[in-house]
Amino acid sequence: MNAAIAPDAAFDLVVRNARVATAGDVFDADIGVRAGRIVALAQGLAAGASEIDARGRWVLPGGVDAHCHLAQPTSDGSRMADDFVSGTRSAACGGTTTVIPFAAQMKGQSLAQAVRDYHAVADGKACIDYAFHMIVSDATAEVVRDELPALIGQGYTSFKIYMTYDDMKLGDREILDVLDVARREGALTMIHAESSDCIAWLTERLLARGLQAPRYHGLSRPPVVEREATHRAISLAELLDTPILIVHVSGPEATDQIRWAQTRGLSIYAETCPQYLFLTADDLEGEGMHGARCICSPPPRDAASQQAIWNGLANGTFQVFSSDHAPFRYDDPQGKQPQGPDTPFNHVPNGIPGLETRLALLFSEGVLEDRIDINTFVALTSTNPAKLYGLYPRKGTIAIGADADMVIWDTDTPRVVHNAELHHNVDYTPYEGRLLRAWPAVTLSRGKVVYEDGVYRGQAGAGQFLQCEKPAPARTARSRHRHLPWLSALADAAS
Ligand code: URP
Ligand code: ZN
Ligand code: ZN
Repeated sequence: MNAAIAPDAAFDLVVRNARVATAGDVFDADIGVRAGRIVALAQGLAAGASEIDARGRWVLPGGVDAHCHLAQPTSDGSRMADDFVSGTRSAACGGTTTVIPFAAQMKGQSLAQAVRDYHAVADGKACIDYAFHMIVSDATAEVVRDELPALIGQGYTSFKIYMTYDDMKLGDREILDVLDVARREGALTMIHAESSDCIAWLTERLLARGLQAPRYHGLSRPPVVEREATHRAISLAELLDTPILIVHVSGPEATDQIRWAQTRGLSIYAETCPQYLFLTADDLEGEGMHGARCICSPPPRDAASQQAIWNGLANGTFQVFSSDHAPFRYDDPQGKQPQGPDTPFNHVPNGIPGLETRLALLFSEGVLEDRIDINTFVALTSTNPAKLYGLYPRKGTIAIGADADMVIWDTDTPRVVHNAELHHNVDYTPYEGRLLRAWPAVTLSRGKVVYEDGVYRGQAGAGQFLQCEKPAPARTARSRHRHLPWLSALADAAS
């Protein structure tokens, strides 16, 4: 498939006979690459110094995984199993060519220091390109007044906030403070929407009755808890006329709130993840701690919820499909079992691995089962996250001038998922034994092969850090479209 040709060729690489899909088009072309960028799209291109024949195969933009956790500090003694070496290796082997993990501020810490610390952890290790979101967990006056605006100006143009988790959550007043900065400075706020007090109330009572097995994690965070927080987040964003993106939506209750807000013309965006299509509450069952493998928040729901998420992917309610890769080993006191086999559900670190399987799962069950079309697949997994987080058109498409981040897909070779064949450092996958009908044949990062026919070919440190432009939703002046007298009064008084 991969052939070396003339050394003085017109292109460094030609991907020949590609069946290209972008978010908007499908076309047949040869793709010419020079210095890591796409420089020609045409039929019958001149020879490249190396060539790959993609005849009969889809060639799609490399995946942009806009929600994954790598080497993120924790405050409960747990430890993430993947750093930027293993995490990006795993991503590349699954067809992802850009990751956006989180520089997480711990309570009491400076946000700028959190970003510096994360660079120290990340730089020189990734094999594919990467940007940072921030996590704002301590919205002090200094953070709101100085640090957040300065960091947004330096290319960290999106951040996540939490409405739950004691060590992360912000109250509504603090959420308004950071949304106000986001509106003024042109950032996109990602919101983890679950109601903290409801979860605490239920958890306390479940544990008092001895109900501490993994399955009770789901009962401590029922759909109404997510729906209430989603509605509240939407209301806070409406009050300040600021775009937000609700992350990891699990079922119809929150989806309906998002759809309702979008129909009202609010700038509300939403993300969902594989666990809400392919897992249910049944996956939290099993002997002993088995179900801890699939503890994540919000928890996986039921078959009807899975269908609602498919509907939301097909009808445009969701713009982004991310992994929410949160790598904790199962058989490990720094992973899913900090107190061994008696770990209560509320002490199990939240999250599941999924960087490497995200794209193949959606391709197999979405595109090849006719639930979504190929353009929607590209939009959800690559183009939309690139636009929403200020990386487009360098990332997220196959076009002249874009980085040559591409995946040649093999849809002819069914493959069963086995953790032993994945490239992360986690000791399980929730998708063990699942049959997939698609998997990347070749992944290219800026024109270099990083994965080919089952073999990782990347190089730690080859990945570049990406400063983000203003997110697309933050570029339009919302106040031109909406009349909000309270904001007008505040603006008038300030001028
Ligand atoms: O449990 C989940 N969803 N992931 C880990 C952290 C987070 O909230 O994203
Ligand atoms: Zn979250
Ligand atoms: Zn997450």
